[in-house]
Amino acid sequence: RAPGKLMLLGEHAVLHGRLALVAAVERWLTVSLTPLHEPAVRVQSALGELELPLDKLAPQSPFSFILQILAARQATLPGGLALTVSSEFPATLGLGSSSAVCAATVAAVRAWLGLPFDRSAIFTEALAAIRAVQGRGSGADLAAAVHGGVLAYRAAPLSITPLATTLPLVAAYSGGKEATPAVVHQVQELGKRWPALIGATYEQMERSSLLAAEACRAGDWAKLGQLMNFQQGQMESLGLANLSLATLVHQLRRDAGIFGSKISGAGLGDCVIGLGTLQDPAAMPAAQVMPIAAHGVELI
Ligand code: PMV
Repeated sequence: RAPGKLMLLGEHAVLHGRLALVAAVERWLTVSLTPLHEPAVRVQSALGELELPLDKLAPQSPFSFILQILAARQATLPGGLALTVSSEFPATLGLGSSSAVCAATVAAVRAWLGLPFDRSAIFTEALAAIRAVQGRGSGADLAAAVHGGVLAYRAAPLSITPLATTLPLVAAYSGGKEATPAVVHQVQELGKRWPALIGATYEQMERSSLLAAEACRAGDWAKLGQLMNFQQGQMESLGLANLSLATLVHQLRRDAGIFGSKISGAGLGDCVIGLGTLQDPAAMPAAQVMPIAAHGVELI
């Protein structure tokens, strides 16, 4: 099983080599693998069911990531298999169901093949599958699913640094979702039109992410919250807010127990996060406490 994630800082900038902060959260996705006697692959989840002959594996909706992982391993699979996916969170929340399913599937298949449990090998194999299916992807969400905790992440050159294993975090769902590749494309287009301004925005995000990594290590939540507020401004500049996200950000900031709040993830949908503990949870019924998952993918 592997945990979901919430991006804390550095969204979009991380696709341009800048630092991001990401946290694994105590919402788990489980993949069970059962060997089959017949040469077939069966996949089942809340998204549907699919059966394919073992020699005809190729990514296909709604199981593109799983089928890509199996197709890349086709030559080494000893026979057919059934995979059942069950999740404590739906795929629509922006909690990283794709990265969790990739981490858990790769770990399960590697265990079946008798390969050692090796987080960095799981990360590399799962990231290759994500990039084959999606074209782009920083891998920050996958790092959280594989390693757990709160991490500083840089895609190139790859660096994954543990910062903390706890953090007071709440999340509120905005009620909508925009596909991440579409939002990434929109931000890229903005960057082509305003290269100097958007470049400077990413540079500012890098600086606040570096300060935030220090604050996180020191457990200085007031400082980290302030830096989250700065980056909310930068995400607004990148065109990533909408009425519902902005409203949630300001509702969270009204609570005296919240040090800072911002959009989490690609933007234009998914979740808003708040750092801290709500003093008046009744005023914010949409917000859920999100404990950090101190470790990542595991065999159970
Ligand atoms: O929308 P999410 O939670 O998958 O986060 C996307 C974060 C981006 O930086 C926009 C993309 C990426 O691959 O890091």
